[in-house]
Amino acid sequence: MVFCLPNGMKPRVFSGVQPSGDLHIGNYLGALKNWVKMQADYECIYCIVDLHAVTIYQIPSELRAKIRELAGLFLAVGIDPKQATVMVQSSVPAHAELAWMLTCVTPVGWLQRMTQYKAKAATQETVGDGLLQYPVLMAADILLYQAQIVPVGDDQTQHLELTRDIAQRFNSLYGETFVMPQTHLPLVGARIMGLDDPESKMSKSSSAPGHAVALLDPPDVIRKKIMRATTDSRPAVNFDDLGPGVRNLLNIFQAFSDWSDAEMRAHFEGLGYGETKKRVAEMVIASLEPIQRRYREVCAEPGYIDRVLREGAERVLPIANSTIELVKERMGLYTFAS
Ligand code: AMP
Ligand code: TRP
Repeated sequence: MVFCLPNGMKPRVFSGVQPSGDLHIGNYLGALKNWVKMQADYECIYCIVDLHAVTIYQIPSELRAKIRELAGLFLAVGIDPKQATVMVQSSVPAHAELAWMLTCVTPVGWLQRMTQYKAKAATQETVGDGLLQYPVLMAADILLYQAQIVPVGDDQTQHLELTRDIAQRFNSLYGETFVMPQTHLPLVGARIMGLDDPESKMSKSSSAPGHAVALLDPPDVIRKKIMRATTDSRPAVNFDDLGPGVRNLLNIFQAFSDWSDAEMRAHFEGLGYGETKKRVAEMVIASLEPIQRRYREVCAEPGYIDRVLREGAERVLPIANSTIELVKERMGLYTFAS
């Protein structure tokens, strides 16, 4: 679906990924693959959200390395810095500035209800205030650029609803200021489940070795992880009665291949699980191979990643600053007399 603006301007897209853990095929199929498709038709801003990552303690040297690795992966999957903007959240201070202004219009109860907050808080000995504020910062990321469309995986829909609630509340208190962003989910791949546990979402934070396929996993590791994926005791693929493990594997295959439901059925119906897993593994390996090759090329070019990130921040700064000026004006905060 292409959203049209009357003056021929492209609608703006914003999305982000945290530079924590290893980027996996769930992140790729749920978010990044869509980002690449959108860059020709929209004005896209893709952000490495390092301020979100530090809501849970990160070892500084590892975080620093992860930010560059993630930027390299953005470029390797096909995000073209000539078409789309790639930037790091903390390099544009207005993200944190707007987050504070939005915090002041957000009832605490809205934040305490967030399912990701409850799940993450339960794993922490002491819960930092940043973890509670996390979705307000996310709202600030989006509203700072007046983004119309936000391509994410299914796990972010609640945060996007909250973003709209915050924008609406701000608009009703201070007058029309923010554009209402829409959530954009992929048709297939919006929720890839763990290979070891198909009842839970594939997640960067799981430490189980067979849980996720990372984008930079070598072929033999991918093969091993998929061959060991949890399935069920049925003898073969039956599309009318799929267990969650097999459904997840077929979902992964379909999201990588872009095959139709009919093609999937013709290819896999009645196939034994061993052979099914082999085919899924080969599809994943073949799809990740060009990404991994491109990643090595991008990293081998001295200074390239830092140049892209610097230019990205410079490109979005005027948009960010003009929103901050507008919000200050609306709220009655001090602005220098011109
Ligand atoms: P995160 O890993 O939380 O930084 O997520 C980055 C992006 O990947 C977000 O748009 C998520 O919705 C998406 N994502 C994360 N895990 C999955 C998954 N298991 N399946 C589909 N999309 C996912
Ligand atoms: N919370 C998102 C996630 O974990 C990452 C994120 C931060 C984001 N800011 C955003 C996604 C703005 C979309 C738009 O996946």
